[in-house]
Amino acid sequence: MTMARSSRRSSHWAIPYLSLVLLLFLVSPAFSVKHHDFKRCDQSGFCKRNRALADSFIEKGTSDGSPYQLDAASIKFKNGLLHGSVVKTLRTGDTIKLPLTIAFLETGNARVTIDEERRQKGDIELRHGSVARKERYNEAGAWALTGAGLQSQKTAQLKKGSDGTSEVSWGHNSRFEAIIRHAPFGIDFYTDGERQVVLNGRGFLNIEHWRPKVDKPKEEENATEQQTPTEPIEDESTWWEESFGGNTDTKPKGPESVALDITFPGYSHVYGLAEHAGPLSLRETRGGEGNYDQPYRMYNSDIFEYELDSPMTLYGSIPFMQAHKKGSSVGVFWLNAAETWVDITKARHGTNPLSLGLGGGVVDTSTHWMSESGLLDVFVILGNSPKDLSKSYGELTGYTQLPPTFGIAYHQCRWNYVSDQDVKDVDRKFDKYNIPYDVIWLDIEYTDDKQYFTWDPLNFPDPISMEQQLDESERKLVVIIDPHIKNKAGYTVGEELQNKGFAVKNKENNIFEGWCWPGSSHWIDAFNPAARAWWKSLFSFDRFKGTLQNVWLWNDMNEPSVFNGPEITMPRDNIHHGNWEHRDVHNINGMTFHNATYHALIERKKGDPRRPFVLTRSFYAGSQRSAAMWTGDNQASWDHLAASIPMILNQGVSGFPFGGADVGGFFGNPSKELQARWYQAGAFYPFFRGHAHIDTRRREPYLLGEPYTSIVTQALRLRYALLPAWYTAFHEASTDGYPILQSQYYVHPDDEKGYAIDDQFYLGSTGLLIKPVVTEGAESVDIYLSDDEDYFDYFDYTIYPGGSRTHTVQAPLEKVPILMQGGHIIPRKDRPRKSSGLMKWDPYTLVIVLDKKGEATGTLYADDGETFDYQHGAYVHRQFTFSNNKLTSSNIGAKGPKTSAYLKTIKDVQVEKIIIVNAPSEWANDKLVSVSAVGSSSADTELIYHGPAGGKAGWALVRRPGVGIGVDWSLSFLQTSSKKSDL
Ligand code: NOJ
Repeated sequence: MTMARSSRRSSHWAIPYLSLVLLLFLVSPAFSVKHHDFKRCDQSGFCKRNRALADSFIEKGTSDGSPYQLDAASIKFKNGLLHGSVVKTLRTGDTIKLPLTIAFLETGNARVTIDEERRQKGDIELRHGSVARKERYNEAGAWALTGAGLQSQKTAQLKKGSDGTSEVSWGHNSRFEAIIRHAPFGIDFYTDGERQVVLNGRGFLNIEHWRPKVDKPKEEENATEQQTPTEPIEDESTWWEESFGGNTDTKPKGPESVALDITFPGYSHVYGLAEHAGPLSLRETRGGEGNYDQPYRMYNSDIFEYELDSPMTLYGSIPFMQAHKKGSSVGVFWLNAAETWVDITKARHGTNPLSLGLGGGVVDTSTHWMSESGLLDVFVILGNSPKDLSKSYGELTGYTQLPPTFGIAYHQCRWNYVSDQDVKDVDRKFDKYNIPYDVIWLDIEYTDDKQYFTWDPLNFPDPISMEQQLDESERKLVVIIDPHIKNKAGYTVGEELQNKGFAVKNKENNIFEGWCWPGSSHWIDAFNPAARAWWKSLFSFDRFKGTLQNVWLWNDMNEPSVFNGPEITMPRDNIHHGNWEHRDVHNINGMTFHNATYHALIERKKGDPRRPFVLTRSFYAGSQRSAAMWTGDNQASWDHLAASIPMILNQGVSGFPFGGADVGGFFGNPSKELQARWYQAGAFYPFFRGHAHIDTRRREPYLLGEPYTSIVTQALRLRYALLPAWYTAFHEASTDGYPILQSQYYVHPDDEKGYAIDDQFYLGSTGLLIKPVVTEGAESVDIYLSDDEDYFDYFDYTIYPGGSRTHTVQAPLEKVPILMQGGHIIPRKDRPRKSSGLMKWDPYTLVIVLDKKGEATGTLYADDGETFDYQHGAYVHRQFTFSNNKLTSSNIGAKGPKTSAYLKTIKDVQVEKIIIVNAPSEWANDKLVSVSAVGSSSADTELIYHGPAGGKAGWALVRRPGVGIGVDWSLSFLQTSSKKSDL
């Protein structure tokens, strides 16, 4: 047990021991993950078995011999749904029936589901007197899917193909086609005649059927060794029970894994599979130089001191993958909530075997998905572009929530602010130093003895006055509430949990007890609707005393983290609501909990709900609908700062873009330079929060000293000024599923040079291209520009021509490198304030970055930033267009019942400044801009022009054009000569 680990598990130590620990902590900052706490594939029975099966087929080089056949006579096809029976033939000649459904969806996607008849009918025997459900887990969709995008296309056509195949065509002009091979069973998906996705092309399909346990005489137990090496080896050693790290999993349902190979022919890069600390373009996993030797693992875990560039599992799982090549993007969504491993290999063929997609050779990417239990349920998404995939996947699992404005402003956290006085003091200090922030956070120590929904009476005697002080500056408080509930007589919440039967049960079907922060604890089973209703009741203002409306929530440790459990989580044979085993639902567990919190918060203010803010550590596909996430316990090191960027980019690809990393690093003490650079990077995380471990030194920005405090303040002010652009990007994410931070391949899908770039990114569709500095002592960065447009330095308008060029951009410590792509209009609010709430009625600045044709466009989305009224039209959505020397603002929103009332509230909010970058030199002689705004008479306003100089673009400034943000208007630049002569 390392010092840091033990310190984390208890914060109440004897002082001398703590001092010793701190000393050691300071002199030996080397952190490393405890590999022995977490399984490798060869320590996970089903992963090992499935890899062995794959190996046997890799050796053969063909899927022939795969024991799965589609019984042609069983096929029924109606309204775009194909039903049939896949038959698995055992070596004994016995057969297993596996009901198959393929839905050909109106969206052009397809869903393939395989169940097991015997388990489906409950015709199996459970071992050890287990009360577990007998079916394969079939409720993952109920949690992850929204119900949209599931409609099958009634006009889809089935025809008998040649050589034992069935062919289905569907989609607009029948552009999609599935060739279903009967023996061995497999499917090839085509778009416009081109093969895109192949299922079971390599023969790795495996559905471990139920069988009774046969107790063999001792000498036969090692039967595996006697098999001939040409036969796939059936390793039975972990079929009936499996031990790891001193814990034994009893597996009452026997082996039940599902696995499948999915190949993307011609696709050189795959992305997604959040959450891993590795590159955006996923690595191969079967060994070899530069590759991993382990599959990407998804088994939500509290991984202590996680390592970088690793396929190890982390806190959340999103089993969605995008495959990308020039001209096309496709994807798969593997809807399974159990432990899942994914192997990735690339086969190169063609003229240049080393080209890896960069011209010449062709690369096929093959993947192998393996889950411990549940249905085989996979969506194949046939898109054209990365954006199509985001949209399709978002339609299935939901788009990101539109957060309250404060949620995307700056959050100040540490473990822990020690008292309500401490919080008030920090709040005052931020003001004293003119540093903006919106939210201050309380970690677990605010509670009375780790009993959630209570306050430590000594240190937090008066939470209400603390919240009131924050509210004076429109600031908020976030408090932590975890899913482990202290097991202590007299603690009402704990007693209610037990008495009402709302806790997770152990394998004997008694309440499960384990260890977490409070010591002995029970875990709320948020799969149970009655438990969720009870959870809601706990947040009402009269139950959670000491909370006002500006208090919001942090759900941590919801993987769930169980300190004394196998792999620091719950035993897999624990029982949840509906008698599902924990193994079946593990990866969804965290989402059920943060969803419950989200809904509880909505109901806090009856009749006038506010958009809740909930931060979660654990997540699954669908979590984006109700929470933000962060990347957990990172370290105050430069490599962790660098790693945060691909991780957050990948969150966007995986449909959950509202993410961030602990700014400054959780463990350890950052140098001032690192902290400054981290704030500059963090100012471009969708979720922007400074956080630190309890053992670290205080590091609020005002403590840094100059020039660091000013540098951090500038980074914060930059974030605040750009909040209108951020909010607009969040709106796009909430309607189209697009990432908030978009990587190079995402924005320039046809530029192969950008496919592996993951250290620079665009902010939504603003054209802002950011490359944070992530190396110590660096004074410049190299930025790659893909397209032919000119780019301009955000601060001084230096011109950087695009067109597949890499530029060195100066980045002294006070500067975060940002370029603006020509052709965009970026909305800002430039007046410095204490918090985003105080900026609500501030005027806007528009930055117009003209492209080579002298044109630009941009959008702005704005609403009240806190209620759900936007769903009834209470918002503005403007399109700004600059063309032919004319800037227009036009409405692109739809009218709703609350539109006019909202527009009234913002009638005095104006554009106060327009900056035109790359302004034409003819403007040098021009002094006036004429304004014609709807509802007001035309007027002229002054234009100040600055000519180009020293590699910097010319620019112009128009102050106070007198136009409102919520109405249509146009401004004409370049006056007619007659008008000028009037001067
Ligand atoms: C673990 C979380 O990852 C960390 O952010 C938090 O400070 C501690 N739990 C204590 O609650």
